[in-house]
Amino acid sequence: MAKKTVRDIEITGKRILMRVDFNVPMKDGVIQDDRRMRAAIPTIEYILEKKAKSLVVMSHLGDPAKDTKKAVEKAEKEGKAFDAVKFSDGKHKMAPIAKHLSELLGKPVKLAPAAFGPEVDKMVSELKDGEVLLLENTRYHKEETSKDDVQRMKMAKELAKYGDIFVNDAFGTAHRAHASTVDIAKLLPAVSGFLMEKEIKFIGGVVENPEKPYVAILGGAKVSDKIKVIENLMDKADKILIGGAMMFTFFKAQGKNVGKSLFEEDSLDVAKTLLAKAAAKNVALLLPIDAVVAQEFSNDVPCKVVSVDAIEEGWMGLDVGPATVKLFSDALIGSKTVVWNGPMGVFELSNFAKGTIGVCEAIAKLQGAITVIGGGDSASAAEKLGFAKDFSHVSTGGGASLEYLEGKVLPGVAALLDK
Ligand code: 3PG
Repeated sequence: MAKKTVRDIEITGKRILMRVDFNVPMKDGVIQDDRRMRAAIPTIEYILEKKAKSLVVMSHLGDPAKDTKKAVEKAEKEGKAFDAVKFSDGKHKMAPIAKHLSELLGKPVKLAPAAFGPEVDKMVSELKDGEVLLLENTRYHKEETSKDDVQRMKMAKELAKYGDIFVNDAFGTAHRAHASTVDIAKLLPAVSGFLMEKEIKFIGGVVENPEKPYVAILGGAKVSDKIKVIENLMDKADKILIGGAMMFTFFKAQGKNVGKSLFEEDSLDVAKTLLAKAAAKNVALLLPIDAVVAQEFSNDVPCKVVSVDAIEEGWMGLDVGPATVKLFSDALIGSKTVVWNGPMGVFELSNFAKGTIGVCEAIAKLQGAITVIGGGDSASAAEKLGFAKDFSHVSTGGGASLEYLEGKVLPGVAALLDK
């Protein structure tokens, strides 16, 4: 069912409460990649152009409690001194986000000291026409992610005071049923922003009604992360091309020697079942035919290209080889829909990046096809390699796109008003 968007509701003179996914990678208070922020700007600008009375924007940024606990435990284990407050300040506080949002919009953005509470109530009530206020990280409040419906609703009721309309552009968080994504939509008229609309159109499109021939390219380290995606796409795609370290679990399941390559012992039966299912359903499940191997997981040791039938003891596969890139590029010719999720190799190391670059280039060059990157590492790869603009859509979701590709209903999407 299509969802209502900001275009379908009167914005002028209204107080807008908007959820975005500004959960961007941060290092010591510095934003490492602002793609998700840039992707939400068209909706924010539209709301401002339509002369909303005020705009209150909210997002999570990491998970303060969980991340800090993990970092403290790690430091303790390593016997290192650790400043938990400094760590969280640099990783979870919205101040750098507010500053960057203001730069992107070319106008001031106020920052609230919390996501709700008396001080925030006052700031919101004092907003002048057209002003933008960013709330502090929603996950500083435990109610946001609580499993208790009453707790989440308590927070949603506080947030609901800040708007007449709820606009959700946080596709990256649409797989989470949290106070600021789902419960709030029970209290205010809830519509999607343009980013959410585009994600639903493209990711939803490749899942629900892809034009054929349809090719899915899946990579990444673990078969276990992609089982449900492979199973779901098997009912729709004509070809599924597998790369990344997960190829070695398939090879091991086929009885090949994979040397020191990463594979999942626990997923060997799953790999066998997937191969059998593909054969039964007449889906071409293509595995690589050559690989780039090295003796260490490093850019500073010699590497070579070998057939996947000739991986020696002591060597590990870290990328697909050139013959595989050719095989996959040929398999893409004539396709009308392509979805890609997961790199073909360790693209962060230049010796093992050619497979990902080659496949990315082959998809980017396709004419007349809908080409979608299902988020995560492949989105970063396309962005880093300069191909992102050549795709029909590069998702801003990680877990959200994966769950969508698995065929799941995303609660954040379901909560929006139907058209
Ligand atoms: C993401 O980065 O996938 C989203 O922002 C959701 O974050 P989460 O996995 O911490 O809920």
